[in-house]
Amino acid sequence: MSQRSLVLLKPDSVRRGLTGEIIGRIERKAGWKLVALELRTLERSVLEQHYGEHVGKPFYEPLVEFMASGPVVAMVVEGERVIEGLRTLAGPTDPIAAAPGSIRGDYGSIVRENLIHASDSEDSAEREIKLFFPGLA
Ligand code: PPS
Repeated sequence: MSQRSLVLLKPDSVRRGLTGEIIGRIERKAGWKLVALELRTLERSVLEQHYGEHVGKPFYEPLVEFMASGPVVAMVVEGERVIEGLRTLAGPTDPIAAAPGSIRGDYGSIVRENLIHASDSEDSAEREIKLFFPGLA
């Protein structure tokens, strides 16, 4: 089942020079490919839409502030079961709970600075891709 997912390499990934490593892991997965990619500093208004479902949660403000603190790499990845696959490749939200071999497990230790966002469902992917890459066919 071919799907698309919106991936954000968060400001910590860019600051630490990890984007090439992370993109390489995604590209090497058989049958997955990049269909859009851009380095971009996100406006607060975009982040408020992107994280709208989390308004009011204790992590919301720190998350939005962190995501606006520097450029991110925004990408659309297409391929077989890519939504589930990217969540597995990323590992769980808390990097300390993430298995070695996953991106968060290998490179993270702080929950806020967990390196990567990947859409959590087909509905989210559709909404997020429209928000970040409205011109993508
Ligand atoms: S929830 O409530 O279960 O839906 O939350 P979760 O899916 O774990 O996380 C939603 C997004 O919030 C980020 N997050 C945090 N950011 C900063 N600080 C803290 N403490 C924190 N906890 C969760 C988490 O990484 C998710 O963002 P994305 O961009 O989707 O990874």
